Amino acid sequence: MRILHDQPAELYSTFRLKTRLATVIEVRNLTDLQQLDTSSVPLVLGEGSNTIFLEDQSRPIVRFTGASITESWMDAARCLLHVEAGLNWHQLVTVTVVKQLWGIENLALIPGSVGAAPVQNIGAYGVELADICAYVDYFHWQTKTIQRFNPDECNFGYRDSVFKHQLAGKGIIVAVGIILSKASKPVLSYYGLDKLPETSSIRDIYQQVIVTRSSKLPDYRELANCGSFFKNPVISNAEFLQLNEKYPGVPGFKLTNGQVKIPAAWLIDQQGFKGYSNNDIGCYPKQPLVLVNYGNGQTEDLLSLVALIQNKVNQAYQIVLEPEVRLLDSNGQQYV
Ligand code: EPU
Repeated sequence: MRILHDQPAELYSTFRLKTRLATVIEVRNLTDLQQLDTSSVPLVLGEGSNTIFLEDQSRPIVRFTGASITESWMDAARCLLHVEAGLNWHQLVTVTVVKQLWGIENLALIPGSVGAAPVQNIGAYGVELADICAYVDYFHWQTKTIQRFNPDECNFGYRDSVFKHQLAGKGIIVAVGIILSKASKPVLSYYGLDKLPETSSIRDIYQQVIVTRSSKLPDYRELANCGSFFKNPVISNAEFLQLNEKYPGVPGFKLTNGQVKIPAAWLIDQQGFKGYSNNDIGCYPKQPLVLVNYGNGQTEDLLSLVALIQNKVNQAYQIVLEPEVRLLDSNGQQYV
């Protein structure tokens, strides 16, 4: 176990606001976790690619750093990978591509750790974690034991899971089991991959995802950001038809439950925010759903830009955009 004091948040959040973190504790394994003092409930952090520290953080922060992969074959075609939470997600995807194990190649280049993946059920290009998740191992602060959650118990939804709700603050994800396939299973329906032939190799798809993502999304190492800042709103079909009358051409993706998902990027783009900045915080010119910090971004600039976007979109479309990113106050509570 390693305990660090008074750390700059820039090292722990890819949005890099210049706030401070009182304590960061790195735990490697079950023994470390069992020895951890949890009398004041810790805040769990992965690689900070979806978390913004708006204020100096007083709650102790815990990061799980174990990063092993254990492979076992379920039958001739299916392989189960037991992956510790501290592994970098993209590194895992790369390993599976080298091993020619199909299932998560569409999720290449998503920033963050394996442990963070189930919390918001990461997804891109027509695939989400829920599609290949076998289980999630969760260490409870109170009982100091690990419980295995099967996919049903994880309650996965769009950027959502039980770990954001009933289990929020109760413990930490220590490992994720995923089932991958030896047989080729290309998912090419999403715009950006739809030009690839059905015979594409796993490496072709992985590379195309990397090219597509890199052309639209900023690399957080070069320009601080936390990916999509808002969730894509979901509205009823009746609301969608009304919206379409007022704004012909509004894009909408039908969900299996009959509701319609509207791209938040479109709503924000239509309000003229592409490339708009409020001091050092702005909307990325190529994808306005991504808010960026040009270097010296301040919490006030971020919050006023968020409010401006939400108000403009709400006034125009009567749709409330909800942040997808975790925005934390000084006690580690969700800010908005
Ligand atoms: N659009 C615009 N203007 C733009 C960009 C996009 O109007 O400048 C509209 C277009 O209609 C486009 C639509 O928005 O068809 C969707 O855009 P895109 O395909 O880029 O996807 P997204 O819905 O904005 C989602 C995820 C991304 C994920 C991509 C690809 C959310 C909130 N975001 O973005 O995930 O990479 O799909 O699958 O669901 C993340 O969660 O951090 C993230 C980056």
